[in-house]
Amino acid sequence: MAILNIMTEGDEVLRKKSKEVTEITPKILTLLDDMKDTLIKAQGVGLAAPQVGILRRIFIIDEGIEEDVTRIIEFINPKIIKTEGQQDGVEGCLSVPGKKGDVLRPMTVTIEAINRKGEKFTYTGTELIGRCLSHEYDHLDGILYIDKASIVLDDDED
Ligand code: CO
Repeated sequence: MAILNIMTEGDEVLRKKSKEVTEITPKILTLLDDMKDTLIKAQGVGLAAPQVGILRRIFIIDEGIEEDVTRIIEFINPKIIKTEGQQDGVEGCLSVPGKKGDVLRPMTVTIEAINRKGEKFTYTGTELIGRCLSHEYDHLDGILYIDKASIVLDDDED
């Protein structure tokens, strides 16, 4: 268990495309555990592997965040298989500290991925979680929300 260092904007690694996981090794399992600790410590909704410097197609989300409980879902080799609707709202990113921006995202996002046991699963998130799934997925392709935001402000501005 370890808290990992979160890369911030300007770090090259955030702009690279992540590679698929071909085998779930002990190293991958440790990465997932450490990403969980790091996300909880940072009080974020989601964290993608490139944000901690690992260019693998992995992200995690905390789907319990709005209920003040921790419920981490791990996505390995995620694919967006369906989106529905639209939402326009404010978001931030642990890799762009102190900022927030207005981004148009799908309202509902359905993802197919594998879990840490190598089992395929499908997961659908809406509203905040739909936004988060779209945001985290973008990280795997080197995209940051500030690329899509209509406006980016300091976090303390209205
Ligand atoms: Co982010």
